[in-house]
Amino acid sequence: MSPINTATDLSVQPNASNSPVARGDLTIRVTRVVRHTDEINSYVLQRIDGLPLPACEAGAHVDVHLPGGLVRSYSLCGDPTLTTEAYEIAVKREDSGRGGSRAMHMWVREGEILRIGMPRNHFRLAHDAPHHLLLGGGIGVTPLVSMAHALHALGAPFTLAVFARSARHLALSRVLDQAPWRGNVQVHFDDVPSPTSPATLVANAPAGSHAYFCGPEGFMTHVRNACQAWPAERVHFEYFSAPVKADAASARSEADVFEVVLARRQQRLQVPAGKSIAQVLQGAGVAVDTVCEQGICGSCLTPYLSGTPDHQDTCMTEAERATHVAVCCARSHSPTLTLDL
Ligand code: FES
Repeated sequence: MSPINTATDLSVQPNASNSPVARGDLTIRVTRVVRHTDEINSYVLQRIDGLPLPACEAGAHVDVHLPGGLVRSYSLCGDPTLTTEAYEIAVKREDSGRGGSRAMHMWVREGEILRIGMPRNHFRLAHDAPHHLLLGGGIGVTPLVSMAHALHALGAPFTLAVFARSARHLALSRVLDQAPWRGNVQVHFDDVPSPTSPATLVANAPAGSHAYFCGPEGFMTHVRNACQAWPAERVHFEYFSAPVKADAASARSEADVFEVVLARRQQRLQVPAGKSIAQVLQGAGVAVDTVCEQGICGSCLTPYLSGTPDHQDTCMTEAERATHVAVCCARSHSPTLTLDL
């Protein structure tokens, strides 16, 4: 999913002992690494103490703490019924990224011991849907594969449509070929002309379907536009990185100064232009967990009591936004925002 820190020199293998702080909740060993394409590896993670991992539902992701202090969030792509035994993630190497995926590919081998966070899930299946349309662009297929396992186990009707540049770029192709639900899978390649697009699949979905999608920015924009007439509760998505903000209102909001009140600490803090609420809180000694700093991972969600947040995240539902704010990226429409801290 998302890059977090600034560019990292990977010419020397980072050492876990160089990490400023040992973070993460669970210590795991990488027990299997599988190369799927020139750019995509999958990694199986198991606890080193042999205890079960926390169970989690399809759509969950974990933060992986890499040697050298990098932290990256990756969606779980395995069968959710097996998550207490092992987590599985798939990572696409982004050579122009900021180092996390390159570090995974260059340094993480079978036997490596790493720390991971507890799983979080902001991309859940709706269990009352008459049909589930899963649309994955590129490596965005990973959480949808986990959803396909879960839906198959439930006997729920679904279609998994995967869009990739070409056959040689297809993520998790062996899983898609061999899964017991492979009859529900459609694969579309950019280099093979086809009348089918994510938009045509949305337009032709059975009545009442729920759509779930994950992929690169252009793919996300295309599918969100295609779903515009659908009720929000039937549209579920997860971004790799924050969508580009182009509108003037967003730029104005970034420039606004406002105040946060920490209700339980009885403290007031100014949030200036150019600083996030999270940065202001951390500067005042308030611990806030931030991983993506782009409103996509959910690590910084904080309950609020009053005020009108200007939500900038893409990870919360409207119901969640009524009670929580992503302090890494939110601003405030009201002069004061009162947090339950
Ligand atoms: S740090 Fe990821 S949502 Fe705020």
